[in-house]
Amino acid sequence: MPDQPNTAMPCQPPELAIIVPTYKEADTVAELARRLSIALDGIAWEIIFVDDDSPDGTAARVRELARRDARIRVIQRIGRRGLSSACIEGMLATSAPFLAVMDGDLQHDESLLPTMLQTLRDEELDIVVGSRYVAGGGVGDWSDRRQSMSRFATRIGQRLIHAELQDPMSGFFMVRADVVQSCVRRLSGVGFKILLDIFSSAEQPLRFRELPFVFRQRHAGDSKLEQAVLWEYLLMLTQKVIGPVIPVRFIAFSLIGGLGVFVHMAVLWPILTLLGGGFLLGQAIATLVAMTSNFFLNNLLTYRDMRLRGRQLLWGWLTFVLACGVGALANVGIANYLFEQGDSGWFLSALAGILVGAVWNYAVTAVYTWKR
Ligand code: GDD
Ligand code: MN
Repeated sequence: MPDQPNTAMPCQPPELAIIVPTYKEADTVAELARRLSIALDGIAWEIIFVDDDSPDGTAARVRELARRDARIRVIQRIGRRGLSSACIEGMLATSAPFLAVMDGDLQHDESLLPTMLQTLRDEELDIVVGSRYVAGGGVGDWSDRRQSMSRFATRIGQRLIHAELQDPMSGFFMVRADVVQSCVRRLSGVGFKILLDIFSSAEQPLRFRELPFVFRQRHAGDSKLEQAVLWEYLLMLTQKVIGPVIPVRFIAFSLIGGLGVFVHMAVLWPILTLLGGGFLLGQAIATLVAMTSNFFLNNLLTYRDMRLRGRQLLWGWLTFVLACGVGALANVGIANYLFEQGDSGWFLSALAGILVGAVWNYAVTAVYTWKR
């Protein structure tokens, strides 16, 4: 990137916006911008980096670049994580009629972009996908495990969107802005399958074409996505089915809560029978163990995208136990009250108590435990 201010018609509105979601990519953003400005020569472009407040200072690096080139921009999101939602925010932050999404770690082949743009225009398509699974494409040196996971996810993806898309998991594509704008409220925004999300939310079947590229090796940092594939997938599918009424996190939270009952009993039983402990002591220990395991499971699954780590875990655990302690009291109190009123019977009373407790636990921990 030249050091002088850029003089090439800075007021010209962009024709193509490259949306680059980043998390801890400080070492590669400058190189990516350099390569893009070469590859996109002759096109009115802008690059929007959407960074989730990476601790390595990615956003500050991008700002440095942006000071020298007004076509480079940054959106820095605080207290949030998530590849899909980052892409959506970036795509909504531009006036360009064509949008490309690509990774910030140099694994995608920027030299494909002009061909993508031309194909999109000439063939009057809605979307062009950079594909690893059509002739001429490839995945570089992935581990066997990652390859088979990717194949598995690909098959589910094809089922979901009813389209013969060979690489529905690709994170590299170019789409008309109006296609995204017209379905943006239906996008789930969960996880990292933004392409699938767009395909399955579009108003009409999308006219698409896949262009081959070879997924490059990652040079700096490491992949944040490898272990999350199936779970995030499940969340996205669930959200698609139940729609916007019930947050998918609440479902996950409740399922884990139900699991906690088994943990509770599994701890209580041996204390009472084998160790001969008192009921109250047993209850106290079982409750604490169940809460703790629920905290870790929620941290790992429900809030995977904003997972607490290291020292944050202690604060998280503490607030979780406190919140759920109050939730348990509310549960028992409400159930008892309804039961004594006499109309609801034991089953409905207990159910109402559980529901109120669950909603309370979910709401309070969403504010104090996982929203920092
Ligand atoms: N803003 C934001 N927030 N960016 C993120 C987040 C996040 O929570 N997580 C990851 N990213 C950014 C990374 O910084 C990188 O630029 C890009 O998203 C892809 O993340 P990687 O961690 O490099 O993913 P990958 O290389 O394992 O996965 C790639 O291949 C998959 C196909 O198997 C991506 O292209 C995926 O989109 C793709 O599905
Ligand atoms: Mn990558």
